[in-house]
Amino acid sequence: MKQLDLVIVLAAGEGTRMKSALPKVLHPIAGRPIVDHVINATAPLHAKELRVVVGASRELVEQHLITQYPGTTIVIQEQRNGTGHAVQVALEGAPQNGTVLILAGDTPLLTSATLQEFFDAHTGLEIDASVLSAFVPDPFGYGRIIRAEDGSLDGIAEERDADPLQKEIDEINTGVYLFDIAVLRSALVGLKSGNAQGELYLTDVLAIIKAAGKSALAIRSNDYTETLGANDRSQLAECAAIMRDRINDAHMRNGVSIIDPTTTWIDLGVEIAPDVTIHPGSAITGNTKIATGATIGPRTTLSNVKVGAGASVIESRVADSVIGAGANVGPFSFIRPGTTLAEGSKVGAYVEVKNSSIGADSKVPHLSYVGDATIGSGTNIGAATIFVNYDGVEKHETTIGNDVRIGSDTMLVAPITVGDGAYTAAGSVITEDVPAGSIGVARAKQRNVLGWVLRKRAGSKSAESAKKAGATDGSTKVQGEA
Ligand code: UD1
Ligand code: CA
Repeated sequence: MKQLDLVIVLAAGEGTRMKSALPKVLHPIAGRPIVDHVINATAPLHAKELRVVVGASRELVEQHLITQYPGTTIVIQEQRNGTGHAVQVALEGAPQNGTVLILAGDTPLLTSATLQEFFDAHTGLEIDASVLSAFVPDPFGYGRIIRAEDGSLDGIAEERDADPLQKEIDEINTGVYLFDIAVLRSALVGLKSGNAQGELYLTDVLAIIKAAGKSALAIRSNDYTETLGANDRSQLAECAAIMRDRINDAHMRNGVSIIDPTTTWIDLGVEIAPDVTIHPGSAITGNTKIATGATIGPRTTLSNVKVGAGASVIESRVADSVIGAGANVGPFSFIRPGTTLAEGSKVGAYVEVKNSSIGADSKVPHLSYVGDATIGSGTNIGAATIFVNYDGVEKHETTIGNDVRIGSDTMLVAPITVGDGAYTAAGSVITEDVPAGSIGVARAKQRNVLGWVLRKRAGSKSAESAKKAGATDGSTKVQGEA
């Protein structure tokens, strides 16, 4: 089998149409920069070397490549003088012979399968130069494939240089090429910039190669959507939607139920087991893994979350956390980084949890804030309990034992420990540890000032009702005081 010696990714374009401080090829699709999709698509071809051409002012792209693709040769094209010039620069110091695959850094939808087929066709037919072509509904803006009477490739005409007849052609240059490196090198020498853009066009080498008596072919791909470029925000969204559909289709084929694939956004690399159900409006991103039988959504965002078997997360936002098997989250929960929910636990409506671990079968059902806490198993945290973890300077930790009952509206002022089996009285502000088996009560004793409404709100509806109920205003007695 023939070997691919070199891949060149052209990414020195300005990306001006994106109107962004972020370089075009770093804009993300499905959780990864556009350029990563391109590079990853070439990976299964096992080229000996990867060269990426970047513009002089693209430090961010360089930085990204150095960290994510350490073996890459980064080539700097100081002056953007066209795709032909970019390849000339890329070939400096590259091998003299062998096969090179050239493609643009802004076509995130290209698949390995298509590239492999293209490579197999090129090497099988022993051609010197091949360009991947496609038929598109609207060829405007692309280079057109010019064929001779017998159907063989004559050359490529750029939009701005094409005559009206050529503009009618709907077979376009996808910008993906395979060349014999030695043949390409000698053809590049003959490039001239006498065209509408005054640039050295890589596309011109095909006619040059043919004129030199070598073989050049346009090989058709059957899916033009693969070669869509993300040149502006609108095309970026179009590419992202196609990628989303591909990812969702793969999960559905794998046994995942996605109720509304058009509103479900799943990053590449997310792992979802069969028999998981994902409801509309959910986004599942980063390094997230979901075990079988789990239910996600509607309108739920998971980012770097491990979800156990049979767990459910409804109308909630969860990041960098672990949700145990059979645990229930939501609706309207906010689970922040560093949280671990053990098996069978529950975080209910309007509850925020941060950097805490909640033990097996423990519940925080309503309207609470849990921060920097360790909660044992079988414990119940009453509605509207707040873990007061911040004294304005530092964060402090709270430890709650097993089978504890925290009364509703308790303030647990950290650092504090509540022992196994302990209770707190509703409405308490707990500032001291509560030993195992005791109840912590920390609130003012109630007193009732009898007849107060009849005296102070005389004539009001409340006073009238109170009178009907038999209340009198004569007394100033206070219940609950000696
Ligand atoms: C190019 C092709 C066109 C093809 C289309 C497919 C040429 C002359 N035209 O047009 O036939 O239909 O791609 O998408 O090649 N780049 C550099 N340095 C440069 C110029 C460009 O690295 O000096 C890079 C860009 O970053 C981009 C790629 O080359 O990734 C293509 O350049 P672009 O300006 O987008 O070319 P198109 O007009 O799309
Ligand atoms: Ca382009």
